[in-house]
Amino acid sequence: MPYSNEENLPKVVLPECPAEKILKGQKALVTGANSGIGKAIAVALGQAGADVVVNYVRGDEQADEVVKVIQSCDSRAFAHRADVSSEDQVKAMFRKMVDEFGTIDILINNAGLQKDAPFEEMTLDQWNLVIGVNLTGQFLCAREAVREFKRRGVVKDVSCSAGKIICISSVHEVIPWAGHVNYAASKGGVMLLMKSVAQEVAPYRIRVNSIAPGAIRTPINTAAWSTPEAYASLMKLVPYKRIGEPEDIGRAAVWLASDYSDYITGTSLFVDGGMTLYPGFEEGG
Ligand code: BGC
Repeated sequence: MPYSNEENLPKVVLPECPAEKILKGQKALVTGANSGIGKAIAVALGQAGADVVVNYVRGDEQADEVVKVIQSCDSRAFAHRADVSSEDQVKAMFRKMVDEFGTIDILINNAGLQKDAPFEEMTLDQWNLVIGVNLTGQFLCAREAVREFKRRGVVKDVSCSAGKIICISSVHEVIPWAGHVNYAASKGGVMLLMKSVAQEVAPYRIRVNSIAPGAIRTPINTAAWSTPEAYASLMKLVPYKRIGEPEDIGRAAVWLASDYSDYITGTSLFVDGGMTLYPGFEEGG
């Protein structure tokens, strides 16, 4: 019998500060790191031994909390406020990171938002805001990271590669999404931004990949999971029959940033409980 209800099934349990620090000595920047997926990734990288810059644009207290959790695992961390769609602010953030930590080894391009509207009602402001943060923001941060990776090169006691960029994309880099045209266009753009940069910088031993999350329990999509009716309807789209937790993405990011995945570049890793498997075809077709 297939499982239809996650309630009685075991949950993933991992130690909070694992003994094996697979990112020890690495310096990471996570954008949009004071909530949701970004927060879980920042904490997971810190728990894996990386020192972490917690970027955010609003919510100082939340950012400080993330910093404290990372510090409690004996990693260094500080919060830095910057809007990733602003070239000046991005440059200043990288300067600060290099001043404080000396360099960058891992960039997690996570900051993103939705401004949904029916297509014919979508304003240019809604379009520009989403493209500006979700796509231009990833470009600006990736460019600064690549400049520093190339300047410094491989440091063999730290990692086999000169640097890693992980773009947080979405299942909507391949699944069209009515009512969310700006968001889907931004994520489709992230996919070819990631692949093209990956192709260009691979000879410098720089790896560029994406994680494409499905439905993850975060503030961006509260409406999709916070009532039993919404949750049941969401599960029709998820063959694995549970919502993703931010920690599911955190664990994938640790592995993709580590030397365990050293031969992987230019790839989107879908972490989606099977959402991209065309669940409508479970029957029929
Ligand atoms: C969106 C969520 C949505 C999920 C699956 C994500 O990229 O931000 O709002 O629930 O994709 O559709």
